[in-house]
Amino acid sequence: MTEAGDCTFVIFGATGNLARNKLLPALYHLDAADRLPPGARIVGIGRRDWDTAHWRGEIERHLSGRVRNGLDPAVLERLLARCQYFRLDITQAARYAELARWLTETAVLPPNMVFYLSISPAYYATVAGALAAAGLNRSEAGWRRLVVEKPFGYDLEDAQRLDEALHRDFDEAQIYRIDHYLGKEMVQNIFVFRFANLLLEPLWHRNYIDHVQITHAERRGVEERAGYFDTAGALRDMIQSHLLQMLTLVAMEPPPTLDAESIRDEKVKVLKSVRPIPSSAVHAHAFRAQYGPGKVDGAAVPGYLGEPGVPPESTTETYAALKLYIDNWRWRGVPFYLRTGKRLAEGISLIAIRFKHPPQQLFRTTQIERLEPNWLLLGIQPEQCIRAEVQVRESGLDMRTRVSQLDASTCAMDPQHIDAYESLLLDIVEGDRSLFLRSDEVTWAWRIVDPVLKRWSVERDYIHTYPAGSWGPPEADRLFDREDQRWRNSLALVG
Ligand code: BG6
Repeated sequence: MTEAGDCTFVIFGATGNLARNKLLPALYHLDAADRLPPGARIVGIGRRDWDTAHWRGEIERHLSGRVRNGLDPAVLERLLARCQYFRLDITQAARYAELARWLTETAVLPPNMVFYLSISPAYYATVAGALAAAGLNRSEAGWRRLVVEKPFGYDLEDAQRLDEALHRDFDEAQIYRIDHYLGKEMVQNIFVFRFANLLLEPLWHRNYIDHVQITHAERRGVEERAGYFDTAGALRDMIQSHLLQMLTLVAMEPPPTLDAESIRDEKVKVLKSVRPIPSSAVHAHAFRAQYGPGKVDGAAVPGYLGEPGVPPESTTETYAALKLYIDNWRWRGVPFYLRTGKRLAEGISLIAIRFKHPPQQLFRTTQIERLEPNWLLLGIQPEQCIRAEVQVRESGLDMRTRVSQLDASTCAMDPQHIDAYESLLLDIVEGDRSLFLRSDEVTWAWRIVDPVLKRWSVERDYIHTYPAGSWGPPEADRLFDREDQRWRNSLALVG
């Protein structure tokens, strides 16, 4: 007997990297935490000639080493008992009728179904169409949810085409667009930090904030992903999605309620208020570069052009920085600097908010040479923390100050913290769409970066470079509005 909350979690691309490295470990952890509905079943769809026993063996092999605190045999057994494999080449439309029959007629498979497209985005429309042709989009017997991962399209027009294709067969309410950054604990904490504390609200404003920086830096290079990355580039890969999502959370107004539409309405308002970048201003607002050879942890590493699968003439950016203005009452005139790069000096995601200088130089006549502005730092990863930098008086006979840091949390690298996919998969099963992107949200995010992408796509003869293992080219500083603005690279005190 299946129960109302039970569901069948169908993973297309079950033998691929995302399923192995993220989805199945997340399902394991949810099962371990007793958060999977008791009758939940997991169906793996793949082209390989495997059967259920073989797939279960593969899952077991991959899970060991990927789960916290080692594999618990009882949880593993429970999880594996939920798993069944169905062999299907996703391009063979004719076989979806057979899949539909099997899914609906196998008694242990609950009629509520999640279709998770853990496949190349090029096949999203094909699979959605084939599911619908087999009647699997219809919700009479149980709910049906379609999950897609970024990238949602290649540019604005392509994203709109993809949306039209998905909307032909699925209602917007059935579509869950994943941006895994929204599942990260600290990203969710931005919301709580802002709206559960009265203290900050009056300061969260152009009168007091000088600028905002949102950084995602990676030490890793492009690894084996050149095939995808070389056509995408850092602006599409990180800024259009993850960084703009973080920007919306920093900049949005409090929603009237916590329901998905209220939250997403506020995020869309932010994206709509971002001042469009005209083609003639792209150079003033955007910067790109590519890593050359360099050193990471003392070892020589190749440049981007030396990575496997990268075309020798490629001018794809591995570093991108963008300056945006949000033309609304709260933010008018405050620059938001977004920056991302591969093969940088550190792996860190950080939101750094710099406040303005106090209006009068009260301490002019003292020994204090320079008053540092206040910073508020939100460490997203690897350290999760909220830290404020304030001036304090140093003890002694003279009037001197130093910067002191106030930590709102333990600022720890907690190896136990849950993976973004755990909370996102649970939301899908429970039908909470607040952490998933709505169609208009994606479109507005594309509108912001589209002029830059268009300009860059025709200027393909030259790109700045930076040594692997550095903080990127100094030329990126040209985006700053003023001389006293500079990149904040860490949570540590700047000496
Ligand atoms: C992905 C990008 O969406 O996010 C990758 O395609 C990037 O290029 C990754 O490395 C970063 O995610 P995380 O969770 O490792 O910070």
